[in-house]
Amino acid sequence: MNLTLKIWRQAGPKAKGDMVTYSVTDISEDMSFLEMLDILNEQLNARGEEPIAFDSDCREGICGMCGLMISGRAHGPEVTTTCQLHMRSFSDGDEITVEPWRADAFPVIKDLVVDRSAFDRIIQAGGFISANTGAAPEAHSVPVPKPNADRSFMAAACISCGACVAACPNASAMLFTGAKITHLGELPQGQPEREARVVNMLNQHDHEGFGGCTNIGACSEACPKEIPLDVISQLNRDLRTALMHGE
Ligand code: SF4
Ligand code: FES
Repeated sequence: MNLTLKIWRQAGPKAKGDMVTYSVTDISEDMSFLEMLDILNEQLNARGEEPIAFDSDCREGICGMCGLMISGRAHGPEVTTTCQLHMRSFSDGDEITVEPWRADAFPVIKDLVVDRSAFDRIIQAGGFISANTGAAPEAHSVPVPKPNADRSFMAAACISCGACVAACPNASAMLFTGAKITHLGELPQGQPEREARVVNMLNQHDHEGFGGCTNIGACSEACPKEIPLDVISQLNRDLRTALMHGE
């Protein structure tokens, strides 16, 4: 395949960015989207031009580092991560726009790389349990009903990629925060801090500049781990309980 790419270039956090058009040739449909960008960077290097900065780590859909806005959709046209998106989802001659996540709380560092440390600070505000560490407990000493274990596991699949924020017109991180609340709130170990957790994490969410949820649902549609919208309902229920108890 030969493709035309319109890619956001921005030299640094304070620099003015712009879309720049590139042609990339000899792309196999079996390549991932990031491998296609690798090829483009090789071609730019060969011409003595500055390669495009973009993030990736595992390239296996696990780490959440690789988010890009591809032709206006977070992670592109498939429900998957950018690293697991393959070029067979595109056609020879396509024109593809590639932009970083767009949200005030995710400032651009360079080109397609954004700073997602706002997510880390939300986790630091309450995404933990205070159970003592030590030797691994006997597996059946704390029974967890299967439906709770399954729901916790589902929510724990969130990889903190930020696609939910990028897809949301309000740049809200409520799907991410709801996933973390649900992951811990379904387990016995998550109960001691349950009410303080939701208040502290939401305060941090708002402090970081993420918007509020208005039930649009674009977050869940864009989520590569298919986190459902009802984790936000669970977050709101926990918040109501916490506020009733004066948290
Ligand atoms: S909820 Fe989904 S889209 Fe949002 S950060 Fe987690 S995995 Fe990514
Ligand atoms: S590079 Fe790790 S999820 Fe894409």
